[in-house]
Amino acid sequence: MREIYLDNSATTAVRPEVAEVMQEVLCENYGNPSSLHRRGLLAERVKKEARRVLAEACGIKENEIIFTSGGTEANNLAIKGVARRFKRRGRHLITTKVEHPSVLYTCRALEQEGFQLTYLDVDADGLVTPEAVAEAVTEETILVSIMHVNNEVGSIMPVAEIGSLIKQKNPRTLFHVDAVQSFCKLPVRPQAWQVDLMTVSAHKIHGPKGIGALYCREGVQLAPLLHGGDQEGGIRPGTENMAGIAGFAEAVRLLLPQQAENSRQMGKLKEMLLAGLQARLSGIRANGSLPGAPHILNLTIEGIKGEVLIHALAEDGIYASTGSACHSHRADPSHVLLAMGRTPQEIEASLRFSFAATNTVEEIEYAIDKISAAVEMLRLVTRRKK
Ligand SMILES: Cc1ncc(COP(=O)(O)O)c(C=O)c1O
Repeated sequence: MREIYLDNSATTAVRPEVAEVMQEVLCENYGNPSSLHRRGLLAERVKKEARRVLAEACGIKENEIIFTSGGTEANNLAIKGVARRFKRRGRHLITTKVEHPSVLYTCRALEQEGFQLTYLDVDADGLVTPEAVAEAVTEETILVSIMHVNNEVGSIMPVAEIGSLIKQKNPRTLFHVDAVQSFCKLPVRPQAWQVDLMTVSAHKIHGPKGIGALYCREGVQLAPLLHGGDQEGGIRPGTENMAGIAGFAEAVRLLLPQQAENSRQMGKLKEMLLAGLQARLSGIRANGSLPGAPHILNLTIEGIKGEVLIHALAEDGIYASTGSACHSHRADPSHVLLAMGRTPQEIEASLRFSFAATNTVEEIEYAIDKISAAVEMLRLVTRRKK
């Protein structure tokens, strides 16, 4: 059966070049970078080069990168790491209601440890205003954590303006940005944005799963989550996932020079899918600010259930999702759409299509045909039942 994969915000296919580099590290250049012999030295060289590639991609220094097991761990490390390190300075942290669960659940866990959390509201497009963030900052605020691109609806937060206002209000407040959905799709510039900590992950950019990184500005100290060794400056001990690190760097090396072109292609596909469906069907509404991130299109389609449509499309080999992959097996409605003021009925009728630059115009034409047919069929069945 023909497959059209439109769930690239959940994860992406590993590029063959990435798999090749990983195979070499797994089977040939298999040393432990902590070893003192030649194998260790060669492995250390791979790690150093990976650090260089990532640092260059973000416009930061090589020693400002901490490799982690992915975006979830990097978010945990940033938030718990700051909270536990700076708790004597203050016990207040700020985030938004639309963050990824790896941020929201970490914040909730900190509430159990006695920290005070402010969860900021968003507008109907899923955005916070820099002024609202600044207003919430107090003398006690040790961290603000706000995502760059929302993984469910693709809205782009004004992180540069937020960074500037936070620092004006309290220069000691640290700013963390979850850039998992924007890295290698939009320019990320933590220094210019006055960001102190930033999360990235490999598997959203055609790299392997289980590897990510945290940018930690030089001079910012974190309490580690794990204890056990000197790796990553003692902040993230444990023998490194060398194949993952090499694969991550290779994915960045391949994607970054094509970032602008890829984003144009994905943006074109997004526009085409939205316009195509709106031309064929009534009651289609895009969620999130438009144009927004080029690779994410979240739609509410009147008269259908998102989950039912996803299963119907999967029969035709078209893969989409109801929102965050982390929530897909749970019945509770999307916290992002809820925060954006959508009704439970609207949320139930929503789904997310997410693109890679390897998707084609022809695939989207096919998808428009199949989605339109499936929606018409589901609406007919619902009408008959009434
Ligand atoms: C915005 C955002 N943050 C964090 C994560 C978690 O990253 P990982 O899957 O590497 O743990 C995801 C993954 O879906 C995400 O979309």
